[in-house]
Amino acid sequence: MAEQRVLLIVGGGVAAYKALELTRLLRKAGIAVRPVLTRAGAEFVTPLSLSALAEDRVYSELFSLTDESEMGHIQLSRSADLIVVAPATADLMAKAAQGLAGDLAATTLLATDKPVLMAPAMNVRMWEHPATRRNLATLKADGVSFVGPDEGAMACGEFGEGRMAEPAAIFDAIMARLNDGPLKGRHVLVTAGPTAEALDPVRVLTNRSSGAQGFAIADACARLGARVTLVAGPVSQPTPAGVTRIDIQSAREMLAACQSALPADAAVCVAAVADWRPDEAFGVKLKKGKGGPPVLTLVENPDILATLAAKGADRPKVVVGFAAETNDVEMHARAKLTRKGCDWIVANDVTQPGVMGGADNTVMIVSKTGVERWETAPKAAVAMKLARKIAEDLA
Ligand code: CTP
Repeated sequence: MAEQRVLLIVGGGVAAYKALELTRLLRKAGIAVRPVLTRAGAEFVTPLSLSALAEDRVYSELFSLTDESEMGHIQLSRSADLIVVAPATADLMAKAAQGLAGDLAATTLLATDKPVLMAPAMNVRMWEHPATRRNLATLKADGVSFVGPDEGAMACGEFGEGRMAEPAAIFDAIMARLNDGPLKGRHVLVTAGPTAEALDPVRVLTNRSSGAQGFAIADACARLGARVTLVAGPVSQPTPAGVTRIDIQSAREMLAACQSALPADAAVCVAAVADWRPDEAFGVKLKKGKGGPPVLTLVENPDILATLAAKGADRPKVVVGFAAETNDVEMHARAKLTRKGCDWIVANDVTQPGVMGGADNTVMIVSKTGVERWETAPKAAVAMKLARKIAEDLA
């Protein structure tokens, strides 16, 4: 196999020191690292350290005659299999989201035709600032993947989300993206978790889905080399390495996020979508009044699985639905397969001990051509088996 190559952009943040360790891990795994060090990055780590660990020269100037004569910035931006930005500072994220091209790092990100993975690192308030939120959403919509940031104590003395992911986690995310697995080059869309349907600004209708199985499937697909978009309801699961996660609340938001993530080669709908929502979400908090408790009128939510499975130019080749059943599992699954128009139904037998909210799952795969019964296995193992089955079907 040809040597895999990463172009590593090191931005200006205290976390830049972790980029050195990341470089070491990548080299140890036999991956070529070509470093781009921003001017601010060079305030935190020296070109010499980076160059010594990368065993390559460091590129830093857009208008350097030497840099340009050795390798023009356009060629540089395409000379790798993957571009990694670590640390991705608020400034670098803003530049990339805006498409600015004022320095070598920003120009590289604008000129590349290769996948980009960012490991953000910044103060918690900068991370939570609406401007960074907007930039993050824009970059995700542009197909950029993210790893981290983590929550923890920061160099600035504050505590919160914004600390760069550890080098080992960034390494895993890189390996997932570079993976020559059977899903390489494929885009898989996964829905997971519950949806929350607003009744008023403080109350929602929701369910107890943990998102565990859906997140495990997103992780497995990424490990097999797919680009994965995970549309997730409110859950407390960590984002799997290298996966692009879009957080939503309601079923309608989930549908819109899925539709804007298309085209996809496969869609796996694991989310426990609320079947109904209140017909009206009140703009102000409902108060107890003389009239007694309010009467809720519910209206049906869109069916995301059925919508994605409907015939059309954008229909993913493989559309997979889930079903939780307590009795006549196969019969109900068959009916659901026809009703939703999907290719397979993964039916859980929720009467099996340990399935609901547990670590294991017992499933059968129902398709037009037959039924496969899988042994009870940990959710991660079920996820990997399903990811491999999807890869076989797409091959
Ligand atoms: N689903 C969806 N959008 C909805 C409802 C369900 O995408 N609005 C998907 C789920 O993600 C899952 C499958 O459809 O893949 C489950 O179908 P559903 O009819 O909701 O199953 P149950 O909740 O088991 O319903 P039933 O009462 O028919 O058994």
